[in-house]
Amino acid sequence: MLELFKEGQVYEVLLVTKSNVTPVGVVRRGNRLFFRLFGGKSAEELKECPYASIQITNDAELLVKLGLNFPVNLEFEGIENFRWIKGLPGFYGRVDAHEEPYEDELGETMILVCSMTPEGEISGNLPSRPLSRADCMLIEMAVDLTRLIVAVGSGKRELSLKLAEKIDENYGLYLRFGGGSETAERIVAWKRELLREVQ
Ligand SMILES: Cc1cc2nc3c(=O)[nH]c(=O)nc-3n(C[C@H](O)[C@H](O)[C@H](O)COP(=O)(O)O)c2cc1C
Repeated sequence: MLELFKEGQVYEVLLVTKSNVTPVGVVRRGNRLFFRLFGGKSAEELKECPYASIQITNDAELLVKLGLNFPVNLEFEGIENFRWIKGLPGFYGRVDAHEEPYEDELGETMILVCSMTPEGEISGNLPSRPLSRADCMLIEMAVDLTRLIVAVGSGKRELSLKLAEKIDENYGLYLRFGGGSETAERIVAWKRELLREVQ
């Protein structure tokens, strides 16, 4: 299953730690999966307890809801120190992690650079959900919203306006591609609220 991840390409998957689940972008190099955590609960948990699962989903709503901490219904199972979401295919293994300084337009921060060599495979079945560009737009909107939250929090007005504009543009495309979920509307409403803090 690991060969389905083209080397060097970023894939959006779910990272399951001791008590948390979050979407994460992973890149395969050889038989190892690499990802970066910009703070948050999963990063804290991995420092204490370096056991995780990486699971595949083609449900954009699920990825986005977990990234924005909207409620979802999931069942878990596992063995020993590992736990995972029941029914989704993936891998489990120990995670090597170290902190590194990182700088981008949001500023300077410390990130947790992580990698995992799968020790076991998790069996599961994905529904035959076809690719939809609306789903891609929803994911872009959610990622930009998580960046907007940080930009507004650190008083970066120009960047906040730029990210808000990008969310609006992608929402326009989302609608054009036939998207119509409440999650997208919640993202736009949250963006509007955040913008009030910088205007
Ligand atoms: C599709 C998607 C992909 C994301 N990928 C990452 C990532 O690779 N690294 C990261 O630190 N945050 C990523 N995020 C943002 C986190 O989900 C978000 O900051 C979350 O609040 C942190 O999770 P936690 O506190 O539950 O660990 C992503 C969000 C979305 C919607």
